[in-house]
Amino acid sequence: MFLASDNTSGACPEVMAAVQRANDGYARGYGADEIMARVTRHLRDLFEAPEAVVHLVATGTAANSLALATLSQPWQGIFCHRHAHIAEDECGAPEFFSNGAKLVLVEGAHGKMTPDALEATIASTGVGGVHGVQRGPVSITNVTEAGTVYQTDEIAALTARARYHGLPCHLDGARFANALVATGASAAEMTWKAGIDAVSFGGTKNGCLAVEAVVIFDPAKDWEFQLRRKRGGHLVSKNRFLAAQMEGYLEDGAWLRHAAHANAMAARLATGLAGKAGVEQRHPVQANMMFPEWPEGTHERLEAAGAVYYRFPAATGREAARLVTSWSTGPEDIDRFLAAF
Ligand SMILES: Cc1ncc(COP(=O)(O)O)c(C=O)c1O
Repeated sequence: MFLASDNTSGACPEVMAAVQRANDGYARGYGADEIMARVTRHLRDLFEAPEAVVHLVATGTAANSLALATLSQPWQGIFCHRHAHIAEDECGAPEFFSNGAKLVLVEGAHGKMTPDALEATIASTGVGGVHGVQRGPVSITNVTEAGTVYQTDEIAALTARARYHGLPCHLDGARFANALVATGASAAEMTWKAGIDAVSFGGTKNGCLAVEAVVIFDPAKDWEFQLRRKRGGHLVSKNRFLAAQMEGYLEDGAWLRHAAHANAMAARLATGLAGKAGVEQRHPVQANMMFPEWPEGTHERLEAAGAVYYRFPAATGREAARLVTSWSTGPEDIDRFLAAF
């Protein structure tokens, strides 16, 4: 009953097998390996973007920070939701890697920016001439930090406001696969067809050991991204092992199968909880993460039964749980949790 995060699960068999295969013999370092060439082709096909820039890093924080640094200038603001991972959970890395771009926070219920809130925030930024930060990229997270999912038209509505002001757009896709299976969209529809310029394509949370791809749709950004990655200490010398993880992850649709499973386990849990007295979901459950609140004493009972998850203070004075399912969550784990409840 490890529901604290999707990173509490191990790596999936497809990824482990690919890493084991990659361990045979020798390969060029720093991304010049053959597996990387295949992964680049695979991701370009997947995104229907034959020219896209594709590079790998080991953490989502590095993927987001390096992508945003490539899209911004140090004197700009990066617009994101108030509770975005880049704002709350990356220790200032986007500001650090961008040489000081400032995160400008946008309001919105259930982890989602609304186009009007984004527009208002953009409109009030960069109006003080040389004295204030200038307008810079917009960063959108899907699946959001509240476990909700933007449909592709909602992403397009946000990027349209950004475009109007000439601003580029980034997608934090740490849970990209979960968002894709939740919406039924293709990778292209979720990104460049909806106005996204760069995406952090997550692998770790959905079955990899430690790998995320950065995909940038403007090939002119390639060299700059490579220099930033090296300078930032995120060019991995034995890149073949990052590439192997990504290859195993993508092969035969493993990534979508695992995300569909994680989402289905969350749906099973949410359905089970919906039948229990006093349970309230703080946000709609749309992918593999939920934030239920429940009556006094329940946390203690669940923890005593072996459930592991984070608690968050809620506005109601109670504590909400954060429950995250993963590729390896079994239906029996969910049923045990519900029985312990
Ligand atoms: C929305 C989101 N973005 C990015 C990340 C990646 O973070 P890390 O640097 O821990 O791999 C996470 C992980 O919690 C996340 O939830």
